[in-house]
Amino acid sequence: MLRLACRLLLLATTVTIFTTCPATAGDTGVVQTPSIFAPASTPAFAIRELALIVLGITGVIFLVVAGLTVFALVRFRRRRGDDGREPPQVYGSRQIELAWTVVPILIVVVLFLVTARYIFAIEGRPQSPEALEVTIVGHQWWWEIRYPRLGIVTANELHVPVSDPEHPTPTFITLQSADVIHSFWIPQLAGKMDVIPNKTNRIWIDPQEPGGYVGQCAEYCGLQHAGMLLIVAVQSKEDFGKWVAQQQAPARNDAEVQAGRELFSSLSCINCHAVRGTKANGVFGPDLTHLMSRWTIGAGMIQNTPGNIRAWIDDPASLKPGALMPAMKLSRDDLDKVTAYLLALR
Ligand code: CUA
Repeated sequence: MLRLACRLLLLATTVTIFTTCPATAGDTGVVQTPSIFAPASTPAFAIRELALIVLGITGVIFLVVAGLTVFALVRFRRRRGDDGREPPQVYGSRQIELAWTVVPILIVVVLFLVTARYIFAIEGRPQSPEALEVTIVGHQWWWEIRYPRLGIVTANELHVPVSDPEHPTPTFITLQSADVIHSFWIPQLAGKMDVIPNKTNRIWIDPQEPGGYVGQCAEYCGLQHAGMLLIVAVQSKEDFGKWVAQQQAPARNDAEVQAGRELFSSLSCINCHAVRGTKANGVFGPDLTHLMSRWTIGAGMIQNTPGNIRAWIDDPASLKPGALMPAMKLSRDDLDKVTAYLLALR
């Protein structure tokens, strides 16, 4: 009986922990604690449904096991007048052993079948012609975001149009990695999907409410794994159209930041960063063409303010220890010029 109780309790707690663990998001000012119980997209609705079914089954198991345990503790407690002898010791019972083997197997099979059904339903959805296509590449420790059909490259902030359930406009995301294994997870929009070097994975979302949704790398990928946040901005069709037009525009070429632009082009910045239409075409770091249109820098770590941009160029590790961008060691004057140039990249 005790072994049965232990096994069932273990099963119940394991399944419960795996299905309810909440995400931990940083202080990005959008959504503090994304919860799988507040879904906003079809795959996430399905996952909540599955989680509730599993919680229901494991909840019943918990009540039965805990109830029997409490009953045994109370009913067979030591009483005054006990003679102190052990109760009869029973060794081997085919019926009991069959019961505590077969019942858990049946429960696991049911959980497996229900889960498999949901996985196939989510992954089996074909890509529709009106779907938005995005490629997201995981890097240590930021997300590269490409819209191949729109000619847009950005970082860490995914903009998508809201999807009306009547006329869905889902977003299909191709996931790739530039270095190690990451995991793409926006708890309110879909399940986790591993981002694996030399392998392409796919995931889709169809957010039905405009707003900001926080995502987080969900596979340990090095020092700044926890500092690899992603914001999904779900916009009305008009707002999304405006954002696309703004991102497609060439980088601004303001005369008053000429000195900064020339300095930037002469430094090693351009080996890692791209500014469309200039000789900066590096791909190791985020594209800076419209840097100032983003809310955060350092993959959601800090707000995108002039002060933070300047501090980041001076020494990224002071804001994000382990960041792979080196400290540029510029003079105060040069630092001001490069900062002014980047601030003009709206
Ligand atoms: Cu990327 Cu953890």
